[in-house]
Amino acid sequence: MPWVLPGFAKVSRILLLHASRWDFWRRSIGLDVGRTGLSLFSGYCYSIALFPALSVCAFLWDYNSTLTKVGFHMDQFFLETPRLGFRHWSNADLPIAQALWGDAEVTRFIGGPWSKEKVQERLSAEIELASTHNVQYWPIFLLETREHAGCAGLRPYRTEACVYELGVHLRPFYWGQGLAEEASRAVIKHAFENIGAKALFAGHHPANAASQHLLLKLGFRHTHEEFYAPTGLHHPSYLLESSLRP
Ligand SMILES: CC(C)(COP(=O)(O)OP(=O)(O)OC[C@H]1O[C@@H](n2cnc3c(N)ncnc32)[C@H](O)[C@@H]1OP(=O)(O)O)[C@@H](O)C(=O)NCCC(=O)NCCS
Repeated sequence: MPWVLPGFAKVSRILLLHASRWDFWRRSIGLDVGRTGLSLFSGYCYSIALFPALSVCAFLWDYNSTLTKVGFHMDQFFLETPRLGFRHWSNADLPIAQALWGDAEVTRFIGGPWSKEKVQERLSAEIELASTHNVQYWPIFLLETREHAGCAGLRPYRTEACVYELGVHLRPFYWGQGLAEEASRAVIKHAFENIGAKALFAGHHPANAASQHLLLKLGFRHTHEEFYAPTGLHHPSYLLESSLRP
């Protein structure tokens, strides 16, 4: 468990720091009253109570930030399915964003491969979208193992008509297990029940059979072909109206 080490390193640093300053803070909080016995006893009690408390705080603080770096978060998911948890992207997520969108297989049908700079841009855009429109392609995690599986969510499509675009990007290891369908159904429900969507739009690369199958299965209706700049192609495009949702 390599993530434990930074936590212990921090605890040791804090213990050393406090041990070296013991005399100073003992005097400053008035324990040095002249009677050596009382002073030693009080100091002993403080050291027993305070050091472990500080150590636990320091450990948890470092533990959380270390886990964050590898994609784990101590915070709660705002949306869950039987197997998946949704949270929001943060700047600390660059490593997992890179693992997802830096994979040429994932971006094959959405204008990839993407450079490191493009992935960073995409991450920043997702974070911005959450603050301006309360939606994004939220990062999703397996509830059982907390592994990062990909992202699924919404982005504005026709804001004035409350139409959002649905999208799902999974890391290849997680394809073919029904996770895209599970994540999409949760996003659709969230869109209509909590975000105020009136309809959802979705499109796919003409050669993306998985995406086509998924959209039809979710109840989307093919409406037109639409030019998609990142691929330079016309993508089959679909709508799911609130009244028609499964
Ligand atoms: C498209 C993508 C999300 C599908 O994810 P997935 O987890 O494999 O999909 P699911 O397992 O939930 O499958 C949903 C349905 O699609 C079908 N399907 C999956 N891959 C397929 C393929 N290559 N060809 C045809 N159908 C396929 C499944 O069989 C399932 O239908 P079924 O229940 O009737 O059998 C995934 O391949 C992906 O992330 N691709 C890269 C990003 C991308 O292109 N996203 C789409 C544009 S937003």
